[in-house]
Amino acid sequence: MNVVAPIGQFASRRDVATDGEHPRVVVADIAARPRSTARIITVANEKGGVGKTTLALHLAVALADTGHKVLAIDLDRRQQSLNRVLTNRDGTARRLGVRLPLPRHLVLQQQSGAMLCQEVARLGWDCDYVVIDAPGHDSPIGRRAIAMADLLVSPLNCSFLDLDLIGRFHPVNGRLLGPGCFAAMVGELRAAREEAGLSGPDWLVVLNRKRRETSHNQSKVEAALGKLAPRLGFRLGAGLHERVAYRDLFELGLTHLDLHRIPDLPRSRGVAAAEILQLLDDLRLEPAGPEAANVLPLQPAHLG
Ligand SMILES: Nc1ncnc2c1ncn2[C@@H]1O[C@H](COP(=O)(O)OP(=O)(O)OP(=O)(O)O)[C@@H](O)[C@H]1O
Ligand SMILES: [Mg+2]
Repeated sequence: MNVVAPIGQFASRRDVATDGEHPRVVVADIAARPRSTARIITVANEKGGVGKTTLALHLAVALADTGHKVLAIDLDRRQQSLNRVLTNRDGTARRLGVRLPLPRHLVLQQQSGAMLCQEVARLGWDCDYVVIDAPGHDSPIGRRAIAMADLLVSPLNCSFLDLDLIGRFHPVNGRLLGPGCFAAMVGELRAAREEAGLSGPDWLVVLNRKRRETSHNQSKVEAALGKLAPRLGFRLGAGLHERVAYRDLFELGLTHLDLHRIPDLPRSRGVAAAEILQLLDDLRLEPAGPEAANVLPLQPAHLG
């Protein structure tokens, strides 16, 4: 895909991006290593608490639910939230004796590009998708996960605090000043990939915890993202609303996509499941792996 590099006044924001390891070094580290045929989806935003783990879980489960082999990698070795919820899921399937789609999962303990690629090759060699959950701060391993992604998914809350990491606007006249620190870093990594003869990653930005009633603040954030999308080269997804459904089954490792498989649990009204399916649509995933022509359509049978 064609990467939109920072232009004009945007170029002056290089300072924020080159704050960490140089993007060329990061890309060279990743590009030199053998990679599997699995498509890599990295869920990242260096802002904390925006819903990365929530999205990574639902994406991993939704992709597994459509018959794909999925490996989920948790880069946050301190919190390990994604790995814990998927471990709970394995336990729930065993205890209840139900057949749940079970993504493979691991925490990346040794945080190097070499180990990340090795784990993708070791556990993801026959997978269709690898879903990587990045920590809520800038880190060398987070940058590598973005640099190796086919698709980057970045959730953010409907707040100007969160928007500030994607784009900076003049507080009085609302004029666009440049990319925020996270977007600048993504731009630099994409430019480094292009220099190395690689394309992508494709980038989807998703508003999370949207309110049901339209608020002035939410409309302003949405308008700002609409302005930023063509400048920074991302697509804007339909987003997810604030719903208890995205967190109430954490201890069981379940999502509302699973409820039809569990006897005696109240059925979902389907709104959260429908939103996740919309998110899958927004990803515009190309069929994965060498047998791409034979993979199932991205639509769970029970919701078809
Ligand atoms: N759409 C949503 N509706 C309701 N609650 C949500 C939604 N998305 C996320 N949450 C809740 O918001 C909190 C933060 O979400 P999550 O842990 O997924 O964020 P994160 O970006 O992974 O955080 P970190 O940066 O710490 O890794 C959690 O309590 C989660 O259950
Ligand atoms: Mg998280």
